[in-house]
This record gives sequence, C-alpha cells and structure tokens, in this order.
Amino acid sequence: MKMKILELPNPILRQKSVEIQKVDENIRKTLDDMLETMYDANGVGLAAPQVGLLQRMLVIDIAAKEEEKQPLKMINPKMVWHSDEMQTCSEGCLSIPNQFAPVERYLSVRIEYLDENGQQQNLLANDFLAVAVQHEMDHLDGVIFIDHISALRRKMLLKRHEKQLKRKASEKGEN
Ligand code: CO
Repeated sequence: MKMKILELPNPILRQKSVEIQKVDENIRKTLDDMLETMYDANGVGLAAPQVGLLQRMLVIDIAAKEEEKQPLKMINPKMVWHSDEMQTCSEGCLSIPNQFAPVERYLSVRIEYLDENGQQQNLLANDFLAVAVQHEMDHLDGVIFIDHISALRRKMLLKRHEKQLKRKASEKGEN
C-alpha cells in the first residue's frame, strides 16, 4: 500500500526516531509499503519518519531502472566504522522534492542492522550506496541533507521548495 510522503516543513521530519523493539509482521508490512512508496516516487531511499513513523527503519534501492531491483531493508541501523576518506555527491530528498545540492559524506561506511527477519546483518557500503545509507540514517535523527550545506544555499533551496508548495496548492484549488 502506497503511503503519503511528508515534506518539509513538517515537524515530524525533525524528530528523533526510536529503536524498534520487535521485528514483527507489522514492521515487515510497513517496510514493504515504504519500498512501494519509494519506487512509485522514483526515489533511491526512504526512511520511516518520511511516512510519519518515528521508528528506526529505512529502505534503499540504488539499482538503475533497467537493472534488477536490489531492495535493502534496515532496522535499527548503526554505523560501526567509517573511512577517513570523503566523497561529494549531489543529493536530493523526497521530502524536499526537485531540489539538489552537493553534500560531503564518508566514502565508505560499515553498518550493523537487523533485517526484516530480525537477523543481525553487517554491510560495508561504498560510493553511492554509502551516500544513500548516510542520507537515510540522518532522517532517523531528524537530519535532512540540507543541514549539511551552507546556510545561504539551504535558504535558497527552502525558498524554491516553498514556491513549489504554493504552486501545487494553487493548482489543487483550481481543479
Ligand atoms: Co531524504
């Protein structure tokens, strides 16, 4: 089932999510719904707060459209190691759609998490997968990618987002 994606300035996006105590059918269903929502929106990642749930879980799939799907579901992810080396990549977010900016992140990260069966997993993520994981994990602490860019650039992106929201609202009014 497709879920509604929250956009800035929704205050839920700024809250800290809590650890999931039990990986049950409800969690598995939610992860599947999040994946469906993410694919529908052409996103590469989605974190639970973006659909209004303050629980530490996220989904990622960085496979290109023509490639086979590679869904990744992470519950209670923790970064246990990161490289000293950094990378800079242009990022966007379904919660501030159509706005992009370069963000500096670790080149490689090692993440421990629970999979949808409650099994402990360990993932070494590099390059763009590392970017996606760091971006989505930020959401679990109420952090949005624009928090990592200059105040001036952030202001510009938020202004453009606001304009887009107003335009959408007025279009709705006309229909
Ligand atoms: Co995002």
